[in-house]
Amino acid sequence: MPQQVQGVVAPGRNEPVRVETIVIPDPGPGEAVVKIQACGVCHTDLHYKQGGINDEFPFLLGHEAAGVVESVGDGVTDVAPGDFVILNWRAVCGQCRACLRGRPWYCFATHNARQKMTLPDGTELSPALGIGAFAEKTLVAAGQCTKVDPAVAPEVAGLLGCGVMAGIGAAINTGNVGRGDTVAVIGCGGVGDAAVVGSRLAGAARIIAVDIDDRKLAKATEMGATHTVNSRTTDPVEAIRELTGGFGADVVIEAVGRPETYEQAFYARDLAGTVVLVGVPTPDMKLELPLLDVFGRGGALKSSWYGDCLPSRDFPMLIDLHQQGRIDLGAFVTETIGLGDVEKAFARMHEGDVLRSVVVL
Ligand code: APR
Ligand code: ZN
Ligand code: ZN
Repeated sequence: MPQQVQGVVAPGRNEPVRVETIVIPDPGPGEAVVKIQACGVCHTDLHYKQGGINDEFPFLLGHEAAGVVESVGDGVTDVAPGDFVILNWRAVCGQCRACLRGRPWYCFATHNARQKMTLPDGTELSPALGIGAFAEKTLVAAGQCTKVDPAVAPEVAGLLGCGVMAGIGAAINTGNVGRGDTVAVIGCGGVGDAAVVGSRLAGAARIIAVDIDDRKLAKATEMGATHTVNSRTTDPVEAIRELTGGFGADVVIEAVGRPETYEQAFYARDLAGTVVLVGVPTPDMKLELPLLDVFGRGGALKSSWYGDCLPSRDFPMLIDLHQQGRIDLGAFVTETIGLGDVEKAFARMHEGDVLRSVVVL
């Protein structure tokens, strides 16, 4: 029987979000219904509401979530009712050319639930990033559920579903930060701070945090940055070179997604160093660099999709490290809120004092 639950819907471009009754179908083959316990508020949810992702309103927002599997459809063997899971937005297919070559974290054919959740009048909802978890329950592809240790608080576990995984993965997966490396992180919001945490975990000797907001730099220091640079007042390329014997950082992680910060990242790295772009640019942005510098400086210019994570490998591992006290995912939770507070949380994002507001149910 389809169920009716409450969920946060973005009805149209820039219209305030509303808590509405939504209809969740029973899980079909390969699908699961998950009872959501917590879901973080991410910038991407705001972008959906603003019409910045696509025009497929109404959206069911929320995509950074943890909860308990309630029911599964035919053929689902990896998760079962009662499992505590983190939702991911890239269920790997196992069959595309990336998967077949043993690189499932790049999967080029990720999938979501086939059935649609709807409003009571039958209007189909577009779930944010194929999840839609600002809701008491949601329908996903079973492959979007990754089982982890239920001892960890849902508001903490759910963070791995998006921004925190993107940042940690940018450092440990894409950037391959290693023991003794010098890392610079440009942009220290939730994603950049997670890159700081990932770099520290990987054994970076020096972690230079760069931001235009001193409050962000203070937080980055709490997260493990060893040096800070306010790039509003100081040239970050010069400052990073000064802090690295005149050479630049081994790995520079760009967690803003703008041409000027990318250019800073490009020139702030040492010869043969690595730039990781994890910040997401907008379609109008263009980058111009002397091709000779691209060649002459060597190294690698990489992009990080979702931290190049493989949920089945990375989520349980990071939860274990959190449980052991080797990373503190709880430090990313600024406040817990209710389903009705998402619009307020969007407003607070701009104030710059929130890493994550997390809806708890
Ligand atoms: N130079 C340095 N830092 C900057 C600059 C700049 N020119 N412009 C903005 N920042 C800082 C902000 O002060 C803030 O601390 O970048 C940080 C961005 O943080 P958030 O807005 O919290 O965004 P976050 O969730 O961390 O995401 C960062 O990664 O996944 C992508 O879409 C996401 O593009 C976004 C980026
Ligand atoms: Zn997100
Ligand atoms: Zn695939």
